[in-house]
Amino acid sequence: MKVNLSSDTVNQLALLGAAAIIILTVYVAGKYIRQMKTAESTGELSEENWDGIGEYKNPVPTGWIVSFLGTMIWGLWYWFIGYPLNAYSQIGEYNEEVKTYNAEFEKKWQNPDKETLMAMGEGVFLVQCAPCHGLDGSGIDGKAQGFDKRMTAEQVLHVIDNGQDQLKYPMGAMPPGMASGDDAKAIAKWIAGGMKGEKPAAFAACASCHGEDGTGMGGQAPNLRHYDETLVTHVLNHGKKGMLGKMPAFNDGRLTEVQKKAVATYIRSLQED
Ligand code: HEC
Ligand code: HEC
Repeated sequence: MKVNLSSDTVNQLALLGAAAIIILTVYVAGKYIRQMKTAESTGELSEENWDGIGEYKNPVPTGWIVSFLGTMIWGLWYWFIGYPLNAYSQIGEYNEEVKTYNAEFEKKWQNPDKETLMAMGEGVFLVQCAPCHGLDGSGIDGKAQGFDKRMTAEQVLHVIDNGQDQLKYPMGAMPPGMASGDDAKAIAKWIAGGMKGEKPAAFAACASCHGEDGTGMGGQAPNLRHYDETLVTHVLNHGKKGMLGKMPAFNDGRLTEVQKKAVATYIRSLQED
């Protein structure tokens, strides 16, 4: 990183002020040291006398007053006008650099192939997601979602009973009580089992939003069969509080769009079939 001092008048002025203060200090200190050496004292003594040691009535040196007031005025100006509102700041520069870097990153990986997405997704996952979801993505004994399967029957039942309104799908909220009793249990078991075998008739109550095949009608509602890019992106953008716990949102720019896509690809690969 290169800091261009010549483009920054505030820094230039600060440096100039610092140099002036150093020169003044050396000059004044030198003057008094010379005076002390000659031991020739001049001026009017004040009344006070401490065991024979007197004190001269010296006025405060004009140079000192000027520097003192000047420093205060400079300080006020610096805080309220010079910085940090109008000029160079390290945080500003850092933010600019991150923005530029992210734009380059997105451009470079505009059309990544599957292999690149998997590698990138694994990298993101191990750093950002593994602390909660486990290195192997199995959810650390139910503390977070296990990605080896979509959802457990208990989780599905929890959603059926309580509804859910967090992920901001085009369909809006999932109302509670779309099924109950044995119907709900049969549906939950079927979804948890990867939607294999005979579809319970009661799933018709769900199909109007989640689709006959449960994959969410092209992103209208969550895909109940597989993790897909739409689901992972919604979860990352909005976070989720469910039966297992709280998944924080990752919507502060920590992940770029292609990184979200990549981590979705990686998560999808952890699920069998
Ligand atoms: C009116 C449309 C609608 C119906 C009917 C519906 N759902 Fe949903 N479902 C949604 C929406 C929308 C969401 C996403 C809710 C959110 O934003 O958090 C959702 C979420 C879910 C989730 C949570 C998915 C996740 O990843 O968090 C499960 C499980 C689910 N639905 C199961 C069912 C089942 C089972 C039925 C039938 C008994 C059903 N849904 C009926 C619209 C519906
Ligand atoms: C602080 C812990 C934590 C971190 C970090 C975390 N998660 Fe989660 N995540 C959770 C919890 C807890 C759940 C289960 C929420 C629930 O009860 O449904 C979850 C659920 C999920 C789900 C399933 C949501 C659904 O509706 O089925 C996905 C997908 C997910 N996380 C992806 C990620 C990704 C990708 C990352 C990393 C970029 C990540 N998580 C980082 C705690 C975390």
